[in-house]
Amino acid sequence: MEFDPSKIKVLYSQKKLDEMVGRVAKQIEDYYKPMTNEITAICVLKGSIHFYSDLLKKINLNVRYNFVHVSSYSGEASTGKIKVKTWVDESLFDQYVLVVEDIVDTGTTLRYIMNYIKKQKPKDLKLATMFDKKAFDHKVEVNFAGAELENHFVVGYGLDYDQLYRNLPYVGYLDNE
Ligand code: IMP
Ligand code: MG
Repeated sequence: MEFDPSKIKVLYSQKKLDEMVGRVAKQIEDYYKPMTNEITAICVLKGSIHFYSDLLKKINLNVRYNFVHVSSYSGEASTGKIKVKTWVDESLFDQYVLVVEDIVDTGTTLRYIMNYIKKQKPKDLKLATMFDKKAFDHKVEVNFAGAELENHFVVGYGLDYDQLYRNLPYVGYLDNE
């Protein structure tokens, strides 16, 4: 796919993103507040960087930050082969763990991450994603979602096309008309 930035159509403006993040933050806070005042939030690099950062600033709990970076071997995504580039550097045992992702698409990477975290025996494990793409029946349990997405390829606010456009302050899609 050729990428022409002049053809990007805004799907979520900065204002809409801010409202969406506020909504998800409220749901998350309401979920944890009766149980705990401390959670471990795991940022799935690189795409959820802005969502993670903005979301956690709106959550009134003690938050331990952690990061994972996992990628599908290029050209082999459908085989489900995963390469771990960075993994958490603190024990997740007995922790309230919240994984923060940008988009669930086929769910391959996330299934791997969630299963791997489960082995570390957290007390509770939940998943928040900015977008839940409905193109695949991904079978990943999403606990907190910003929005559902049609089968658009989107960029901006952390999401890339070929590692670019992550710093657009809005989320847009390619208009190929
Ligand atoms: P999957 O769920 O394993 O297929 O992979 C999802 C990952 O692919 C997401 O975490 C994103 O990093 C990336 N991704 C999926 N859809 C898009 C998109 O529309 N734009 C940018 N990145 C995407
Ligand atoms: Mg991602």
